[in-house]
Amino acid sequence: MAEYTVRNGIMVGLNSTRRGSFGVKDGKLINADTLPAAPSINLQGVSYVYPALINTHDHLRGNYLPRVGPNYSKYYLNWLPWDNDLKASRCYAERTKALDIDKGYLLSAYKTLFSGVVTVNDHFPHKLNGDILPTLPIRAIQNYAIAHECSSYDLKWGGDINEEHTIACTNNWPFITHLAEGFDDESMNAIPMLEERGVLDNHCLFVHCIGLSDEDIQKCAAAGVSLSWCGASNMFMFNTTCKIKKFIDAGLNVTIGTDSSHTGAINLLEEIKYDRELYRAMYGEDLNPSMIFRMVTANAAKALWMETQTGRLDAGKNADILILRAKHENAYENLVTASSTDIEFLSIEGRPLWGEERFLSLLDGKLPDNFTRLTVGGRKMFVIGDPLALYQHIRRATNFKKVLDFLPFEPDDQDC
Ligand SMILES: [Fe+2]
Repeated sequence: MAEYTVRNGIMVGLNSTRRGSFGVKDGKLINADTLPAAPSINLQGVSYVYPALINTHDHLRGNYLPRVGPNYSKYYLNWLPWDNDLKASRCYAERTKALDIDKGYLLSAYKTLFSGVVTVNDHFPHKLNGDILPTLPIRAIQNYAIAHECSSYDLKWGGDINEEHTIACTNNWPFITHLAEGFDDESMNAIPMLEERGVLDNHCLFVHCIGLSDEDIQKCAAAGVSLSWCGASNMFMFNTTCKIKKFIDAGLNVTIGTDSSHTGAINLLEEIKYDRELYRAMYGEDLNPSMIFRMVTANAAKALWMETQTGRLDAGKNADILILRAKHENAYENLVTASSTDIEFLSIEGRPLWGEERFLSLLDGKLPDNFTRLTVGGRKMFVIGDPLALYQHIRRATNFKKVLDFLPFEPDDQDC
């Protein structure tokens, strides 16, 4: 396992930044001074070091473009008619033709890592993703209990709500469910129903929560519930989102999810930008960038019951590292305005996933066997696996020059 040090970066914490260094050993963050002879890179004080980002809601089987949504701006009552529209769409047929399930998941892994994310929740039942998730280069969490949604018409992805919640409590896992993704009677009554069943507590990670009332929000806050806010998907399907400011002011553990690219933003970095603008439009004030940073790192780790493993740059935690070029004096502003092309380096448990070629010095200067060289935004990069071949496969299968915006490179422009 790789051992190395990264020196002279600007280390970003929840409330402050500091000039500093870190070491990586056995996949964990350690003091750089304990590895004086390890391979090293000096960031010269001009790059920010963040914990790698966490996306609390995606569907890794369903990342393709374009988006599929309501016709003629007739927004949906709930998610169900959208699901019917998706299955009947040309996009869905094209996706099915271009990608088998394994390739679809791999494509989603690249959507994930090209946005600085190494931890993601694939909202899908274990029996359908259990064999695939461990094969991905990123960390699609496997320790979760699930309901598709808590309604009589949901897709029955998990067991009974109480059974799944018990699994979460027994194992210290999250219980993750779409909730109130719409405005029908059941969506509007979701919290009283869960309260009555005795499953409203800090294991709950609720996705969407559009129809929740002020009273519902207070109950969720008191119970220690986490929220996955998917602003772009909500606006696309319903032309509204949850009362996000009330969730934050009530003290809920708020995180951000992309949903799949069939409805959401193309990736988490773009979701962050969209949600910040949405908040400004809704409330006439800025959502503090340091709060957004917290939502996609420490808050998300807490929601997934992974606080001891990831979400902060503390010694002993996983070396899940995101390094961005410094374009703003404020580190949090730098993150919330960043794009894929600003990423200099990304690692999971110390293993590089992609980065500028200068970071190969951490790997004795050699490109590992299972990596590919890639030009991204004019910079020479290396990346795990071969997304170039995957992109070319999609273009051959679709028989036209398909563009997927979450892949930040043009296959025809690659000279490596
Ligand atoms: Fe979803």
